[in-house]
Amino acid sequence: MDKPVIIANWKMNGSIDLINNIISALELKQAEQKNNSEIVICPPNIYISIFKHKIKNLNNSNLNIKLGSQNIYQEEDGAFTGETSARMLQEIGVDYVILGHSERRKYFQESDQEIAKKCLMANKYNLKIILCIGESKEDRENNKTFDIINNQLDNIIKITGMSLFNNIIIAYEPVWAIGTGLTASSAQAQEVHNFIRKKIAVSTKIVYGGSANAKNALDLLNQKDIDGLLVGGASLKATEFANMCSLKVTN
Ligand code: PGA
Repeated sequence: MDKPVIIANWKMNGSIDLINNIISALELKQAEQKNNSEIVICPPNIYISIFKHKIKNLNNSNLNIKLGSQNIYQEEDGAFTGETSARMLQEIGVDYVILGHSERRKYFQESDQEIAKKCLMANKYNLKIILCIGESKEDRENNKTFDIINNQLDNIIKITGMSLFNNIIIAYEPVWAIGTGLTASSAQAQEVHNFIRKKIAVSTKIVYGGSANAKNALDLLNQKDIDGLLVGGASLKATEFANMCSLKVTN
């Protein structure tokens, strides 16, 4: 299989010290030839250029880290105080953008329709989309997981069309597993990933997110339909994150 893609979502966390520590930890693995992943780091926007600059200035390093943003606004540009456009991110060399994260849906009331518009804008500016979907605890308890996933995808596909899905990453993030320490079991995650794979039926990468850490990562990554991880809390710990990027996946 392809190398797993390990994506760090720093959320509203981090510092210049953390950038330095993450780069050092990943460089160490690189030197030991243990980097086994495609690495994408999504810090707050303010840190992206600093991060890029530091990677560029590394001596004798072939450390390959891509950078992503955690959100964009759905308009091209204009009077939208405090927002960041896809064009601006492309201009500074950003490769990826996380869209539809459950925290955006919950705290900023983002709807599937808005997320779909953001997907179109990201696509226009060649930002690779990491599209988050997932069910709540209540949905799962009421056996609605597959309905919710299906609806979230259909609502977006209705606006973007299916072809957009050829070249995105879908992140399955059960809301009950995010930041709670309650990771979905590898079997639970695999079941939903397989459902998504069958529905989308293209070579879309599907990554898992929700309390992924160095302890549970290998078991998750060894599942047939789990192509990588979206990591929140554990991505703020440099050594742990570097270890997660160094796992040898066998599936
Ligand atoms: P977590 O966050 O790893 O801290 O659960 C994952 C995410 O929200 O992307």
